[in-house]
Parts: sequence; C-alpha cells; structure tokens
Amino acid sequence: MQKDTQIFDLINKELDRQRHGIELIASENFTSLQVMQAMGTVPTNKYAEGYPGKRYYGGCEIVDEIETIAIERLKKIFRATWANVQPHSGAQANGAVFLACLKPGEKVLGLDLSMGGHLTHGSPANFSGKTYHALFYGVKKDTGTVDYDQLEAIASKEKPKMIICGASAYSRDWDYKRIRNVADEIGAIVFADIAHPAGLIAKGLMNDPFEHCHIVTSTTHKTLRGPRGGIIMLRHDFENPWGLKDPKGNTRTMSQLLDLAVFPGTQGGPLEHVIAAKAVSFSEILSDDFTAYGKQIMSNAQAMAKAFMA
Ligand SMILES: Cc1ncc(COP(=O)(O)O)c(C=O)c1O
Repeated sequence: MQKDTQIFDLINKELDRQRHGIELIASENFTSLQVMQAMGTVPTNKYAEGYPGKRYYGGCEIVDEIETIAIERLKKIFRATWANVQPHSGAQANGAVFLACLKPGEKVLGLDLSMGGHLTHGSPANFSGKTYHALFYGVKKDTGTVDYDQLEAIASKEKPKMIICGASAYSRDWDYKRIRNVADEIGAIVFADIAHPAGLIAKGLMNDPFEHCHIVTSTTHKTLRGPRGGIIMLRHDFENPWGLKDPKGNTRTMSQLLDLAVFPGTQGGPLEHVIAAKAVSFSEILSDDFTAYGKQIMSNAQAMAKAFMA
C-alpha cells in the first residue's frame, strides 16, 4: 500500500509548528515520546466492549492486562479504590457521570460557563444543559474567587441532585469541604471535574478533592501529560444513599453505575491503544520526575501571580 504522504506531510508540518511556535493554551500539554509510541500500536485493531475479565469479544486477554495495569496505576496516583479508564474524552467522562446520577430534567448546579465553568457542566449548548435542569453559581467580581455564599444560597433554595465543582478557566484552588457541607445539607452528590489541576493534585500540590467529593473525573491530556482522553475515579465506593438505579431498575453501588454509564451507557468499544498510552503516562506520573515537574509548574505559576499582583 502506498504511504499517505499527504497526511504524513501535514503531521510533519504540525510537528514543526509545535516545535517553533509558542503554545500558550492552558488545556494543552506535550506528552512524552513513549506515550505517543504506545498510542500508535496494535490494540487499535481490537474490539473489547466490556471490562477486563467481562468482555463481549474473544482474544481480549492481552488488552485485559493493559487495561488492568492502567486502572491500578491510576488508583495508586490518586489513592482511589475504583477507576474507569475508558472514557474517550473529558466530555465523555462527564456525560457518564450525568447518566449515572441524574434522570432527565433533574437539577444540577455548576460554575457558570461565562465565569470559568465547562460546557459539560450544564451549558444550554451542551447535552448537559439540554437534558437536565442546570443552575449556576459564579465568581465574585472583586476577587474572582468562587462565590460560595451564592452557591450555598442556590443549593438550599433549589435543592439540586448534584453539585459540580471544577472549571476550565479558574486560577485558584477549591474549597471542596465547604461544597460537601452544602451538599450534605440537601443530600446532593458532589462531583469534581479536575481536568485542569489533576497533575498538581496528583502530587499533593493542590487541595485533594477525593476526601470530600463523591465522584471525580479528569481529562488525561492536560496537566496529567498523557494521551487525549478521560477518566472517572472514586476514593470510596458506596452503596448509593440516593437510591440511584441501573437501566433495569436495580440499585447498584456507585462504581457499578458509573461502569454501566460508560459502557454501554455512552460508549461502545474502548480505545485500548489509548488506554495503553494512558497506562504509560500514569507510570510517568508516579515517578519522582513528575513530582519535580509539578513543583516547577507550581512555583512558576506562583511567581507569575506575584508579578501580576505587584
Ligand atoms: C473542566 C473541563 N472538563 C472537561 C473538559 C472536556 O475535555 P475533552 O475536551 O477531552 O472532552 C474540559 C476541556 O477543556 C475541561 O476544561
């Protein structure tokens, strides 16, 4: 077969653009060569609907090992007891959380898109805003920090079933404990989307959402420096006190509901070549090099913030 020079020439041009331009997009990163090498490999040929040990296809014994290693490494990074590494993207991970936790029309409270929130946190342009009753809190004009009083007031008046913390454009840390206290008053689920700070949280450089938030999602390609993708995690699995049911009407644990919401709820076959690359990036995150990398990013950010305030 002839090599597709048209596309490979363009890929080389993109490499050149990335090498010689200045990339200042906060949601982007440069993943390692071995992560990219793992991504361009044969698991892309394999169908593996289901989960390790419970697939709908034969010949999954090797991809089962790959996916299990990815899950175990991810659990170790965040001291989680359960993780799903199959979401194709951050948006897919969030979609699965909505599907597992809410019925269409139920209320969800998130940070307003115009104040730093993400499309999948209830924007009217997104499935989350079209399918569910989205309410929003914002940031304070004078400080730019989350208006927790407003969040609390809306939550106690509207009683949303789920409160989302996390953002696409927010430069401060989160008070997860306060949000959990608000949620406990009204029996709401707390869902943290840590797509942006995940790499810093992984190394203990920012507040840990896992202690206070029932469910945590992230992308893998931002500060986690892995391949493009999504993940869902729980530090504590729980019999769900909200009485959430699976599509057959059975009460399940949160981890079971989330697994079902990823597959078959919102996705088909997992991208096992990307899961292999996620596993490689997770081992990089577990290394001391990544700790040094995180500390360097944190101190650069702090220095920039100081200079900006001066
Ligand atoms: C907070 C947050 N969540 C989710 C996403 C969605 O990730 P993806 O682009 O992988 O769907 C983003 C993307 O920027 C994000 O900032």
